[in-house]
Amino acid sequence: MDKFNCVAPCLFGLEKLVADELKDMGAENVLAENGRVLFSGGAEIIARANIRSRFAERVQILVGTFEARSFAELFDNVKALDWERYIGADDAFPVKGSSINSALYSIPDCQSIVKKAIVERLKGKYKIDWFDELGAERKISFFILKDKVQLLIDTSGEGLHKRGYRADSGDAPLKETLAAAMVKLSRIYNDSTLYDPFCGSGTILIEGALMARNVAPGMFRSFASEKFAFIPAEVWRSERAAARDMIDNTVPFKAVGSDNDPEMVKLAMSNAKKAGVSDCINVTLADVADFSIPTDRGVTVTNPPYGERMLDIETARNLYRTMGKVFKRRHGLKYTVISPDEEFERLFGTVADKRRKLYNGSIRCQLYFYYK
Ligand SMILES: C[S@@+](CC[C@H](N)C(=O)[O-])C[C@H]1O[C@@H](n2cnc3c(N)ncnc32)[C@H](O)[C@@H]1O
Repeated sequence: MDKFNCVAPCLFGLEKLVADELKDMGAENVLAENGRVLFSGGAEIIARANIRSRFAERVQILVGTFEARSFAELFDNVKALDWERYIGADDAFPVKGSSINSALYSIPDCQSIVKKAIVERLKGKYKIDWFDELGAERKISFFILKDKVQLLIDTSGEGLHKRGYRADSGDAPLKETLAAAMVKLSRIYNDSTLYDPFCGSGTILIEGALMARNVAPGMFRSFASEKFAFIPAEVWRSERAAARDMIDNTVPFKAVGSDNDPEMVKLAMSNAKKAGVSDCINVTLADVADFSIPTDRGVTVTNPPYGERMLDIETARNLYRTMGKVFKRRHGLKYTVISPDEEFERLFGTVADKRRKLYNGSIRCQLYFYYK
């Protein structure tokens, strides 16, 4: 079977999680880099990675890599790539890109040269002079770093964090990919009870439920490459069927959420319903000051308000103090908190057992783990 070289960009800090899930899916030559993971595989791996990845932002095909310091070099190298393998005579192929620390720095010029070179290549292959580009879209991007050029074709369409269950979101929702990573790193099992006392639109609870029940996050949505001729419809059908067969709705996993905003309580439950997991999620209206875990086992994963975005810093900091009082430390109770505040541990009152740096969008955060 034909093999493709691919790239899965991801949030900084999630590279290893993406690499591990791709290996589990059967991807080959998996290599984690800064903010992305390289891998290769057949058409079925592209479909599988789109449907099943919980942590990657998208899946792209790496058409080629080369060095270029002049427009002529850029043109010749782009034209030499086998574009006809990916783009049919009727397909649309818009080009975008970026350049960092490179001789070729003018994005509009690079964009038009890449486009011209692809057109010239396809003219020769299809023996036509004009491309109407009325067919399915292949989004091409170039990425130039220190004169090394990469040419990519997007296979996902909307970013993979858009699972399809969260049409509505709260004020400062967490990206689904980041919520899934927090749950994974907190070692949640399919018989755990997951708590989130600042649940907002319910992202952490829903991602936890999907993971515990082994529901592929891409089950509810479509992908740009479903229209690509080189990934046959049969591949998509069998990958979706395999993902459906993996679901186990009988696991005893439960998620318990609360928020002090009644609108958020409604929103979280309506999102859980859209994701098909409302039967294992319960969300109530409550202030974090009243938070308690009634049993001797439970994993709390939470994203309290950030001073800069929602409340003033002092209000957010008071919430960290309250959390320090109500997050009781007992054997069997674990807590994971994401915060950009360097003072978090002091305000919470205990030094974390482990920390991990992550980015929530452009905000540099830490995950604080308490599990001992
Ligand atoms: C950063 S948001 C959480 C976003 C959530 N992770 C999501 O993906 O939608 C923080 C949430 O804390 C809630 N909140 C603020 N103060 C609270 C308090 N004292 N007790 C409980 N919830 C509170 C807000 O209503 C908001 O929904």
